[in-house]
Amino acid sequence: MYLGIKGLIVTKAKVLITGGAGFIGSHVNKLLTQKGYKTVVFDNLSTGHRGFVKWGEFFKGDLGKKSDISRCLSKYNVKAVMHFAAFTSVAESVSEPAKYYANNVVNTLNLLEALKNFGVKNFIFSSSAAVYGIPQKTPIPEGHVLCPINPYGETKKMVETFLPDYEAAYGMKYASFRYFNAAGADPDCELGQWYDSFSHLIPLVLDAAVGRKRAVQVFGTDYDTPDGTCVRDYVHVADLAGAHVLALESLLAGGGSAAFNLGNGRGYSVLEVIRMVEEITGRKIKVVKAGRRNGDAPVSVASSRKAEKILKWKRKYFRLEDIIGTAWNWHKKIAK
Ligand SMILES: NC(=O)c1ccc[n+]([C@@H]2O[C@H](COP(=O)([O-])OP(=O)(O)OC[C@H]3O[C@@H](n4cnc5c(N)ncnc54)[C@H](O)[C@@H]3O)[C@@H](O)[C@H]2O)c1
Repeated sequence: MYLGIKGLIVTKAKVLITGGAGFIGSHVNKLLTQKGYKTVVFDNLSTGHRGFVKWGEFFKGDLGKKSDISRCLSKYNVKAVMHFAAFTSVAESVSEPAKYYANNVVNTLNLLEALKNFGVKNFIFSSSAAVYGIPQKTPIPEGHVLCPINPYGETKKMVETFLPDYEAAYGMKYASFRYFNAAGADPDCELGQWYDSFSHLIPLVLDAAVGRKRAVQVFGTDYDTPDGTCVRDYVHVADLAGAHVLALESLLAGGGSAAFNLGNGRGYSVLEVIRMVEEITGRKIKVVKAGRRNGDAPVSVASSRKAEKILKWKRKYFRLEDIIGTAWNWHKKIAK
């Protein structure tokens, strides 16, 4: 509850955040709380951390157990759901595809069915740039063909396919967010990426900066890019959080369903990231050149004009130094 215009008491909607103990969901939970929403985090803590649930209520549950979802929805009268819970490693999805189809697809269906039964009609989904596979052009617009090249990307594409069907059948509105590389950390340094999620480039390089890693491997140095290394789009996690709140407000105000890219709109090469880490940390990073990895696109950069236009999304932390600077502050804190 908060005091609205003319002192009227306004109660904002309660939002269920699946995977809210993880990296992105925890940042969104913080912003929702700051904006006056009540939140409930549903998480089985498989990769998340109880300590990241610093706001709202916590329900320990597994989306693989329909009874957990029903108990949670019976207990809390939620108006909207933000669905972050998933397994997120591309490499693991290739070696253990069933684990990914079960958790990211079947368990999302469990959730959608429960939401249908409880009459929850607003759904925000964490999709991924992985739905595009190897892009045919960059910046990538949302209308680009969806052609994933690994099971992880397939799981995201499958869920995106369900959503218009749920809207047609049950009037459940949705926003699907195709994140590019989520990076950075809470500017107040209360949240960030945890050690076990360090398959991402920036935390890996920061780990080398604090001496927990001897060197950083660079996969492919002969791509057709300015310095031969892959170019990626790094979007700050606090900016991602901002887009979620805008989408929620749009859906609650009667706005339509859509899929949106969320990226920085600027690409940085692996070597540019490493150089920026050296500059910010003042430490030298040892680089080991390795061969190309299968399925790595030379360049992947988003066009986020649709989110900018429809949701009025504005990025605050788009400079690479802001992204790496906030991640470095967090990294130093947890490395102590
Ligand atoms: N991090 C990125 O760069 C990125 C990029 C694109 C898309 N995404 C998507 O964003 C979402 C969040 O990613 P993240 O980086 O915060 O990952 P994360 O691993 O930090 O968070 C995922 C959370 O979901 C929980 N979870 C997983 N399976 C569950 C289940 N069956 N029941 C209940 N809870 C479960 C985990 O415990 C964890 O807290 C994921 O859907 C991911 O695919 C992430």
